[in-house]
Amino acid sequence: MVKATVLGASGGIGQPLSLLLKLNESITELALYDIVNSPGVAADLSHINTPARVTGYLPADDGLKCALTNAHLVVIPAGVPRKPGMTRDDLFKINAGIVRDLATGIAQYAPNAYILIISNPVNSTVPIVVEVLKKHCVFNPKKIFGVTTLDVVRASTFSSEIIGSDPRDVRVPVVGGHSGVTIVPLLSQISPQKGFSEEQIEKLTHRIQYGGDEVVKAKDGAGSATLSMAQAGARFATSILDATVKGKPGIIEPSYVCLDADKEHCAHLKDAVGGLEYFSYNVELGPDGIHKIHGLGEVSPYERKLLESAIPELKQNIEKGVSFIHSKL
Ligand code: NAI
Repeated sequence: MVKATVLGASGGIGQPLSLLLKLNESITELALYDIVNSPGVAADLSHINTPARVTGYLPADDGLKCALTNAHLVVIPAGVPRKPGMTRDDLFKINAGIVRDLATGIAQYAPNAYILIISNPVNSTVPIVVEVLKKHCVFNPKKIFGVTTLDVVRASTFSSEIIGSDPRDVRVPVVGGHSGVTIVPLLSQISPQKGFSEEQIEKLTHRIQYGGDEVVKAKDGAGSATLSMAQAGARFATSILDATVKGKPGIIEPSYVCLDADKEHCAHLKDAVGGLEYFSYNVELGPDGIHKIHGLGEVSPYERKLLESAIPELKQNIEKGVSFIHSKL
């Protein structure tokens, strides 16, 4: 029995993400929680003839508790999205409290679940979840993931447009965090190898870092990426299920994680990024979550500069999340 729970299931990301999870045959129960409309979304999805039983919960009648109890995996796309002109950090004021309260529920009702955090600003919401779990003494760094898959998906798509190849065959490691300059695509490590010109690298890097803004602008006040994010979130959730339920070895996905998750390598991993506790690296998944965090590999001088800009901003974002919990709980 594999229960997956979506917190924020009625939203722009939540609905298509829940649809894609309903199609995942590893899931036997899909619990949808939101402050509005979740019973309706659940009723709709429940008519699809795939194995998962779908249930919908609102906050009343212990809805959060029912949605979370026995969850194997919890995905969090709850919170407000950006409007034109906003940075992800501008969302902190509202989303930090939402994520803190949901994390408190997870600590109480699903302390062993894999937690996938989509709500922005991811650079800060992941430390918020970690601090809440620590306070409740249920913190396991191997099970907490900031979902940066959309940056990786965009990197494949945008690079393939230049190369002229099938985007599914193009892989670019994207490290750092999930906002503006903290998104660091390692185009020198693109696979299959491709010799981009300096100008192409600069343009591509900027497009990958600010790809989210293209969508925010085009939606003109109606929100940010939802459909591509749902696909990216479902891909990441599927990788977690494949590793932890089916026992598939060698799955590697980039994700923004607490570096303590890999005890053997964490000192080296932290040193490479100025002592940060959190960073998005290529993460190898295993039956218990994070099996190994892969290092940066060889980076070009241009990428080194990008990392140097990312690190101070990430440090601030992390500290902001940590101090939010310690000043509020
Ligand atoms: P949305 O506004 O369409 O949906 C958010 C949903 O969260 C709504 O249904 C709302 O009722 C629900 N919600 C609000 N407070 C809640 C609470 N306390 N408990 C449960 N549900 C609650 O927003 P959208 O477009 O789905 O975006 C959600 C989040 O995902 C935003 O923070 C956005 O910035 C982030 N995002 C992250 C990406 C990533 O790459 N990690 C990419 C795109 C968006």
